[in-house]
Amino acid sequence: MENRPNVNVAAIGPEEVPVIDLSGDIDERIVEEVGNACKEWGFFQVINHGVPLHLLEAMKETSKEFFDQPMDEKKAAKRDEVNPVGYHDGEHTKNVRDWKEVYDFLIDDSTLIPASPDPDCQELRTITNPWPENPSQFRVVCQEYAREMEKLAFKLMEIICLSLGLPGGRLKGYFEEQTSFLRINHYPPCPFSDLTLGCGRHKDFDFLTVLAQDDVGGLEVKRNGKWVPVKPDPTALIINVGDICQVWSNERYKSAEHRAVVNGEKERYSIALFLVPSHHVMVKPLEELVSEEDPPKYLPYNWGKFYATRNRSDYKKQNVDNIQI
Ligand code: SIN
Ligand code: FE2
Repeated sequence: MENRPNVNVAAIGPEEVPVIDLSGDIDERIVEEVGNACKEWGFFQVINHGVPLHLLEAMKETSKEFFDQPMDEKKAAKRDEVNPVGYHDGEHTKNVRDWKEVYDFLIDDSTLIPASPDPDCQELRTITNPWPENPSQFRVVCQEYAREMEKLAFKLMEIICLSLGLPGGRLKGYFEEQTSFLRINHYPPCPFSDLTLGCGRHKDFDFLTVLAQDDVGGLEVKRNGKWVPVKPDPTALIINVGDICQVWSNERYKSAEHRAVVNGEKERYSIALFLVPSHHVMVKPLEELVSEEDPPKYLPYNWGKFYATRNRSDYKKQNVDNIQI
């Protein structure tokens, strides 16, 4: 029942994901609103976020051109056991097939990760974006979009740090060799939209996610046992707290469960940036946020090893719930 789209869905309004105006410099209002939204919801939308709207449009157009191509073209840029980025049409969430196809790409075009998730493995390897040849402008648009989104993501990280009483730049050093990546989601129309999910319920494993979506709608956030639909606004961006933020903040902020339902008639696009640190970072509750009264709630874990389990059928996917103290 948990995986059925129509069970426990809240009516539209009265509860809605908070909307925060980011215009101007970071000030007390912005810090307070972001802090409250992270604490109360783990989710919020931002408007006047500084990412040019024409770039959001261009990204959606080039994504559509990419996914409209024949399967052979798309599979020429597919991900594999060695390279966990590129095209993929077999996404599963908690072992259930999602009704979608995706293209993942790294912000930095290539980055280092452990050669294997094995705890004893010291070796590193480079992973690189497998760019498709067509559409011809795809790579340039994706890279420009990624740079703009990255700026916003780091600004939000600064605001989140301030809201936790930390210096704004407290976490920046962990991202020097970031493994951050973007995912373009394409959800084709689904004839079984009351039985199938575009993306099954899950929490994000990153520090934070910045999601752009079109005007179709489908994203839902779990709140007090009900699925709350997020009102689609193609000019706004949706931000959510991920597991790394939950661990670093020692659960002052928690990652929220969410999912995407599909539409019987319309296709839908969404594009997510997952902000994640460098491969060598050990993620654990920040020492400033733990004390005798508030001891660490998680054991340290190596982010690179965690990431390296993606795509590997021979390793169990890690989950922060398993390292809770
Ligand atoms: C996701 O959470 O991975 C996708 C959300 C969406 O497409 O709205
Ligand atoms: Fe997600």
